[in-house]
Amino acid sequence: MSETHPDLEQQIAILKQQLAQAQKMTALGELVSTTTHEFNNVLMTIINYAKLGLRYKDDASRAKAFEKILAAGQRASKITNSVLGVARNRSDAFEPTDLCSLVEESMVLMEREFSKYRIQVDKQLNKVPEVVANGNQIQQVLLNLLINARQAVQERGQVLIKVEHDETSNTVDLVVRDNGAGIAAEKLRRIFDPFFSTKSGPDETGKGGTGLGLSSCRDIIDAHRGKIRVESSVGKGTCFTIKLPVAKKTPRRAPISSNSSEITAASVVSQ
Ligand SMILES: Nc1ncnc2c1ncn2[C@@H]1O[C@H](COP(=O)(O)OP(=O)(O)OP(=O)(O)O)[C@@H](O)[C@H]1O
Ligand SMILES: [Mg+2]
Repeated sequence: MSETHPDLEQQIAILKQQLAQAQKMTALGELVSTTTHEFNNVLMTIINYAKLGLRYKDDASRAKAFEKILAAGQRASKITNSVLGVARNRSDAFEPTDLCSLVEESMVLMEREFSKYRIQVDKQLNKVPEVVANGNQIQQVLLNLLINARQAVQERGQVLIKVEHDETSNTVDLVVRDNGAGIAAEKLRRIFDPFFSTKSGPDETGKGGTGLGLSSCRDIIDAHRGKIRVESSVGKGTCFTIKLPVAKKTPRRAPISSNSSEITAASVVSQ
């Protein structure tokens, strides 16, 4: 096909680029709206405790007010840092990246949403070597997976985020597991297809339903020479694993492609 329709190939490449750009803008829009909400919350806390401190003159009330104001201020600074982290990374540069910090930064933006739905989030962030990555893009992947997980679990569901070093494949693995609805085998094959969605439209937080989330995750992970794998069991939950090669300066223990248990981005495993 590439020999017979070079124009068509070129057009597809341009459209893909435009789609990636549009997805980036959507992610940025979501980020801004989440951040604004988060910031507003923090400001309300600061204002209310400042009022409390002014109203009650005793030492205990004032100390409590100051503690709350301090904690809220520290949270506000975490939020700003997290957004600045994204802004710093707006370029398409691939650089040595610590996935654990990226998870922490992304979680600051999702915490409120998870607690609103009373979802319990467990983080297992092990010490891992750096990977060569575009932090902005990997954060977009992580947010897509977390939003999907949040939408798949009922209230009081559970989500696990794990970062660990797989020494056999010399990859850093990022795992997002939920105990939600799960995905039936016939759908599992299609979830990475562009526009495949089982959602009727955006939910009350304005997210979901275009069917582009996982397809953009796959494109991003492909561009990182990584792999994305999914395992799902109806009624029990879904687990996405992203494997990113460790940055080269760390000595490799095994060639990345020789491990037969690794699965390419488009492949799926249904339990
Ligand atoms: N964690 C999950 N649990 C259950 N089903 C899932 C999960 N993640 C994805 N899916 C299924 O895969 C489909 C495709 O996901 P994808 O993220 O690509 O699109 P979407 O969430 O429907 O819309 P959006 O592009 O806005 O994210 C979903 O509609 C859903 O059916
Ligand atoms: Mg989605």
